[in-house]
Amino acid sequence: MTTVIRFGILGTGGMSHGHARAILEREDANLVAIADPSDGAMEALVARVVPEGVAPPARFHSLEAMIDFGIDALVIVTPHTQHAGQIEAALVAGVHVLCEKPLATRAVDARRSIDLAREHGRVLAVAYQRHGQAQFRHARELVASGTLGDIRLISVLIAQDCLENFIPGSTWRADPALSGGGHFIDTGSHIVDQMLWISDLVPERVYAEIDNFGTDVDVITAAAIKFTNGARATFAATSLSAEAWREELTFYGTLGTMRLGREDGLSFQLKGGERVVPLGSEVRDVRPVDDFVEVVLGRHTEPQAPAVCGLRVAQVTEAAYRSAASGRPEAVG
Ligand SMILES: NC(=O)c1ccc[n+]([C@@H]2O[C@H](COP(=O)([O-])OP(=O)(O)OC[C@H]3O[C@@H](n4cnc5c(N)ncnc54)[C@H](O)[C@@H]3O)[C@@H](O)[C@H]2O)c1
Repeated sequence: MTTVIRFGILGTGGMSHGHARAILEREDANLVAIADPSDGAMEALVARVVPEGVAPPARFHSLEAMIDFGIDALVIVTPHTQHAGQIEAALVAGVHVLCEKPLATRAVDARRSIDLAREHGRVLAVAYQRHGQAQFRHARELVASGTLGDIRLISVLIAQDCLENFIPGSTWRADPALSGGGHFIDTGSHIVDQMLWISDLVPERVYAEIDNFGTDVDVITAAAIKFTNGARATFAATSLSAEAWREELTFYGTLGTMRLGREDGLSFQLKGGERVVPLGSEVRDVRPVDDFVEVVLGRHTEPQAPAVCGLRVAQVTEAAYRSAASGRPEAVG
């Protein structure tokens, strides 16, 4: 008999639809429940995502009611400061959790979530989709194989035209009590994660200059990072760009330079050599839900984006926010 995982989705706004589609496309998973305080958001998800003839998920206004109904696994797609408490409630009830980024807004919460997952023997993964995308996976392999030598400098940038999300009163993203911060903790979370995951370097301290641009959260960040092995990184994030989205990561190694990003794809150049574009378009991406199901069913042991990645990002984010407040470099950890 095939095991079918009974999924719930908590938070049925914009980002939940892709996860719901991924669940509904699988034979070993079923979307049995959704929960959101907004009936309109739940209605929109069902209307847009659940195909005709498929039983719609049961609807609830709280996680607790959804857990009482009975689910095996939960996808959390809610405002950031709620993640930690929702992860805890699910894990304690024996439910596996795939959580949207950031895993937590505070490192202490991320650590506690990891401990709870271990204690209750449940899977906890972060929905960092870049971990399943070919160019990012290949970039990590190129570094791990030593092809580029030792990485001594990393330059990363995320530029978006999304200031409207952070104007007070616009969305929950503008309210620090719900978002835990602005652009740095939001899309910046992906870029910090990729800097750490691809390089496998351990950050030691961060110096950050942050501008709120009249909002209640960060919308422009320039940061310098020192790693424990002496390597350095610069991180830049703006939500005031004229371009809709630009994402650039460059890794400078002692033997070669590697560049990748949303628009440009992956390429690298070894000293004295030509630029190499190592990937064809045929390489398949693995969506967070697909990877998560494989782990829950025991087909592989480690999620593509394990919770520890969320902890590392939370540590850098906290240090950056502390540095912006103190005006000094701050220790990570
Ligand atoms: N991985 C990515 O590329 C990506 C992209 C966008 C958003 N996200 C993440 O997804 C999460 C949600 O973002 P979004 O863009 O979908 O936001 P959104 O505003 O579109 O949706 C959030 C939903 O959560 C609901 N909600 C609020 N409090 C809740 C609660 N206590 N219980 C249940 N539901 C609650 C809201 O009613 C809303 O429907 C965030 O963590 C965000 O960072 C990730």
